[in-house]
Amino acid sequence: MSVILGVGASLPPRLVTNDDLATRLDTSDEWIRSRTGIRARRWVEPGTTTSDLAVDAGARALRSAGRSTVDAVVVATTTPDRSCPAIAPAVAARLGLVGVPAHDVAAVCTGFLYGLANAVGLIASGAARTVLLIAAETFSTILDPDDRGTAVIFGDGAGAVVVGEGGPGIGPCVLGSDGTGADLIQVPAGGRHFRMSGKEVFRAAVERMSEVALDALARAGLGPADVDRLAPHQANQRICDAVARNLGVAGSKVLTDLDAVGNTAAASIPVLLADAAAHGALKAGDRVLAVAFGGGLTWGAVTLTWPDVVADFGVLGQDR
Ligand code: COA
Repeated sequence: MSVILGVGASLPPRLVTNDDLATRLDTSDEWIRSRTGIRARRWVEPGTTTSDLAVDAGARALRSAGRSTVDAVVVATTTPDRSCPAIAPAVAARLGLVGVPAHDVAAVCTGFLYGLANAVGLIASGAARTVLLIAAETFSTILDPDDRGTAVIFGDGAGAVVVGEGGPGIGPCVLGSDGTGADLIQVPAGGRHFRMSGKEVFRAAVERMSEVALDALARAGLGPADVDRLAPHQANQRICDAVARNLGVAGSKVLTDLDAVGNTAAASIPVLLADAAAHGALKAGDRVLAVAFGGGLTWGAVTLTWPDVVADFGVLGQDR
């Protein structure tokens, strides 16, 4: 069994509101809010990398866990600073962790849950007793600024957890993929910009997230009535509402920060958890159901018993 020993998150300082986007795109605050639930997002300044956010979130998670070292580092990202090598070794080195195994995981918006399965597996295999899992993204660097269907949705950020031995904590991780839908969310070969077929993705997200969430509950011997907090990937408020409805989980139990950060892809769930824990919406002992869907297509879900930790949630370059 594995548990979460610490949690941290880091957002870039630059706030981009819907009105800011409407000055250059044919869109409006009203359209974005009513169709997605997003009011604002954080975007990095030019020169700030995914690694910069990852290092800050990782340092915060280590501080939350009260440790300076771990046995392994996993970074979940779709927007690495460079395509080769993985950024995890460099992130680990900047955290003073030279010598530990470090690798990246690419599963787009399901990246954190794929990474969590990696972290739990490293511990179960005996390769590590503690793992720092960081999910970090700078989607603003791959968005087409002229594509109103994607430019309004994505934000930048990073979230991290330290995972260690013990329990009860992290339930069975249930993951899936369907590569026949690979073209629905992609940066086309040779292209620079991210493309998404919004309508198809919307439908598939609701269906897959509902299914895999029920699967993860069943694998943990639980039902929807046992869920204290639903932590859905923050893709679109209407997707989160539909999944909660399909599961029969009351709206009051659904965590959300989408309005303030948008869709931060792999970072979405750990940023949400860190925010909720830091601001009192998530308490020790709460049973959490986390569920995600993303490019690949990929999806996943897991149950967590929330630990007694002080989350370190902050802004890059401030208060650390
Ligand atoms: N502002 C104003 N109008 C917009 C717009 C914007 N930002 N984006 C799209 N539109 C327009 C479209 O051009 C279209 O106009 P048309 O009818 O004249 O062709 C109209 O709004 C409807 O577009 P559609 O794509 O059908 O809207 P939608 O209700 O499906 O909402 C998304 C678009 C992207 C918000 C929605 O599909 C979505 O959230 N999809 C899932 C995205 C997601 O979560 N991805 C990550 C998953 S991991």
